[in-house]
Parts: sequence; C-alpha cells; structure tokens
Amino acid sequence: MNILICGGAGYIGSHMAKMLATLDHKITVFDNFSTGYRQAVKWGELAEGDLLDQNALDQLFNKQSFDAVMHFSAKSLVGESMSNPALYYRNNVIGTVNLLDAMVKYEVKKFVFSSSASTFGNPLKDFIDETHPQNPINPYGQTKLMVERILKDYAQAYGLNSVSLRYFNAAGADPEAEIGEAHNPETHLIPNVLKAVLKGGKRLKVFGKDYATADGTCVRDYIHINDLCTAHLQTLDYMGTKHGAHGFNLGNGKGFSILEIIEAAQKVVGCEIPFDYEERRPGDPATLVADSTLIHKELGWQADYTELEEILATAWKWHQAQKW
Ligand SMILES: NC(=O)c1ccc[n+]([C@@H]2O[C@H](COP(=O)([O-])OP(=O)(O)OC[C@H]3O[C@@H](n4cnc5c(N)ncnc54)[C@H](O)[C@@H]3O)[C@@H](O)[C@H]2O)c1
Repeated sequence: MNILICGGAGYIGSHMAKMLATLDHKITVFDNFSTGYRQAVKWGELAEGDLLDQNALDQLFNKQSFDAVMHFSAKSLVGESMSNPALYYRNNVIGTVNLLDAMVKYEVKKFVFSSSASTFGNPLKDFIDETHPQNPINPYGQTKLMVERILKDYAQAYGLNSVSLRYFNAAGADPEAEIGEAHNPETHLIPNVLKAVLKGGKRLKVFGKDYATADGTCVRDYIHINDLCTAHLQTLDYMGTKHGAHGFNLGNGKGFSILEIIEAAQKVVGCEIPFDYEERRPGDPATLVADSTLIHKELGWQADYTELEEILATAWKWHQAQKW
C-alpha cells in the first residue's frame, strides 16, 4: 500500500514508518519537525510541511494517491495544553480537519488516528474499556475527543473510514535501537527512569506515595511501541470490510506501579535508580489501565511484549545509543 504517515518524525510515527517499510509498503512522512527529528526519518520519502498549511496538503495529495493515512501529528503535553489551549485546538483539531478535508477531496478512504486514554478523563474503574464515559479533563484530551467525534461525522457524510486507537502509555524502542523515544521536555516515566542513571541525568521524581495501590505509587499500562504499531497495521485490513468510524482502547492490559518500573529498570541497567518522592500532582489517578478485550476480539490484536523487562531493555539499548 501507499501510506501517508503524518507525524512520522516523532516517536511513534517513526517506528510505524520502519515497520511499514520493512513490510515493503511505500511510505511518505509528512512532518513540520515541531517535536520530531530529521534523524528519525530513515524510511520512505519526506514531505516537510505543516497540517495548518492547506496548500502544502493539497500539493502532497495531488502528487500521489495514498491508500491510507496514519495520523500521529499532535501537540501532546497536558500541562502546556492547560496554559496554551489555543495552540492545541489549532494544531490538533484544525490541523486534523485540514488533513481530513484533503482526504475527502482526493478520495482517500482509510484513516488511523492516534487518540488517547486522556479522552476518558477521571477513570471510574481500574480497567478502562470502550464503554467508559469520555469526559476529558484537559484541552489535550478534549482535542482528541473532538477529532473522534469529527471522524464519526466524516464517516457518515463522506464515507471516510477510520479507526481511532486510544493509547495508554507507549513505551520501549526499536529493538535495533535505530530510533526511540526522545521527547523534549520528556514527561514520560520510563525515559526519565533510565536517564536518571545516564551521564548528566537528573534524579527521578516520583509524584505521590500514598495512592490506593499496593505500594502507594501510581499504576499505569505500558505497551511496547512495536505492539502498538502492529495494531495500526491490523486496522488497515479491518477498514477494508468494516466501514464507519471505530474506536479501540490499546494497552497491555497489565498495570505496573512506578516502584515496579524502577525495580525492573534496576535489573535491566544493573544499578540503583536514584529517586525522590514529591507531592502528588493534581489530576493523576491512582490506576489507569486499558481493557483491550475489544481490539483483541475485533482485530485479533495481542501484545508480543508481555514482560516489563523486555520493554525496558529495548528502551535502555536506545537511550545508551542515543545521539539526537
Ligand atoms: N507517546 C504516548 O505514550 C502517547 C499516548 C497517547 C497518545 N499519543 C498520541 O500519539 C501521537 C504520537 O505521539 P508521539 O509520542 O510520537 O509524539 P511526538 O511529539 O514524538 O510526534 C508527533 C509528531 O508530529 C509532528 N507534528 C506536530 N504537529 C504537526 C503539524 N501541525 N504538522 C506537521 N507535523 C506535526 C511533530 O513534529 C512530531 O514529529 C500523538 O498524537 C499523541 O497525542 C501518544
């Protein structure tokens, strides 16, 4: 297939590009490098541009005919979305509408969207399935939910088929360490755990130790980046027969506490991870884990990386090799 990867210079998009290229699909990466890296674009063609630039999108779609679009581009820092919501609504919502309009104009019918667990807001239960109410508590989560709703309308009005995958926490890296996670600032736990033992790294901060969990620290779901990409691949076949706008939760289905991550990371890196406890952060639920039963049932998806240490080992290999 000929696939357009928007945001292919970022963490998840670059892993998707590698997987698709390895399977001999033709790919084009569209990215404005606002948070992505030129070094991450190693597969396929690069079309540098911004989703807010409708002319750039028109030229891109006019030049070649895509079979599907995978959309990873977004601003995704919750705190920044609270202080600068305009940036988030513009980039994540208007940018996506521009992309969808180009797809409608050029009759591209398959769209995979990076949605997020943040569309659910405060969890009402520990394992979140698709029936959980979607009530985002920050502008970032709002933008993801708005796009999910827009996709329903575009399916009904224009026949644009889509799958929104609601990721919990993507983790780990390409097992060959050619690419990996390099957010700046890094707000994700696993890179910060590993960086705490690398040269120049800061001591890890653990926010809260009195949550209602077995060891008092927050429990989250970590899915290996390649398992996440496999789900995207499977959506392409799914949309061939199941028309409309679909949404699936995508996670490992296992919860790990921060202390469990630290303990597993210590085994992987072979030394102690230095950390300090800090006050709880507002808005952090005790437990947030995906129930991925539906995606397993509908797409046959399941995680290959089931052991936490395996996931951490790929991240560690990448962080040691990282030069970006
Ligand atoms: N990383 C996670 O654990 C996680 C969890 C839930 C959801 N998500 C979602 O997955 C997607 C990918 O996340 P990531 O961690 O790879 O982020 P990332 O910041 O590494 O990648 C996003 C990419 O999109 C590009 N981009 C942003 N706005 C653009 C625009 N207007 N035009 C063109 N390119 C633009 C950036 O330059 C970057 O390369 C995002 O939509 C994010 O909200 C990620």
